[in-house]
Amino acid sequence: MNVGVVLVAAGSGQRLAAGGPKALVELAGRTLLAHAVDALAAAGLRPPVVVHPPGARAAFEAALAGRPLAALVPGGDTRTASVAAGLTALPEDVEVVAVHDAARALMPPEVLRACVAALTAGVVALAPALPVADTLKRVDGEVVVATVPRDGLVGVQTPQVFPRTVLTEVIELALAAGQPATDDLALVEQALAAGRLTGRVVVVPGSVRGRKITFPEDLALAAAWLAADAADAADAADASDAGVGA
Ligand code: CTP
Ligand code: MG
Repeated sequence: MNVGVVLVAAGSGQRLAAGGPKALVELAGRTLLAHAVDALAAAGLRPPVVVHPPGARAAFEAALAGRPLAALVPGGDTRTASVAAGLTALPEDVEVVAVHDAARALMPPEVLRACVAALTAGVVALAPALPVADTLKRVDGEVVVATVPRDGLVGVQTPQVFPRTVLTEVIELALAAGQPATDDLALVEQALAAGRLTGRVVVVPGSVRGRKITFPEDLALAAAWLAADAADAADAADASDAGVGA
């Protein structure tokens, strides 16, 4: 099956507040955009369609530094509009689409690959997911109304994978109805609930490293992971130079 990737990077990064598009923020010498594109390549996936903030094309081209892409297209006001823009730029032969957030720049290549491989017959949407760690409360303003049992609750990440026809249809419907969503899986769930579609929406194991970089603290955490990786690699190189374990 031909898998195409839409890498959405058209957000403005208000919560990171880095003074420009989040995807262009640097992390250990590379932009988040470059980290995400390189991870997709390392996973063996085809070059993505990258969706950039309108007006930022030149800066994105510079950040991509010649990395192969399927296309570079401007996004929209909502994530749904940006996904729609990316979908229209996918090559015609694409049958399966993986939609990935540039903000999840460090999602490991193995997870990217496993997500794409998990779209089997009867599955109409899937996402990587992790168990929820915090105790969850339902509140009304500041008043706690209930404790929500954590059993069976997960947090979903990206890449989210769909048959192309399914994603195209639910995105078009959401835009036509003026009801964009920040989660594409939810659009498929709505189509199932309305009886417009049959099939299953499933989750596969996600990764802590796929945490969305939203706030400055998330960027600091990502930098710490990469620094620890570099230190481990240096230790391993020293050990092999010294013949340790040989
Ligand atoms: N995104 C997009 N188009 C939009 C909004 C979001 O392509 N109109 C993308 C972002 O670039 C990001 C992903 O969707 O890769 C997840 O969104 P989020 O983390 O919310 O990023 P931003 O919208 O940029 O950040 P913020 O909400 O803090 O402004
Ligand atoms: Mg946003």
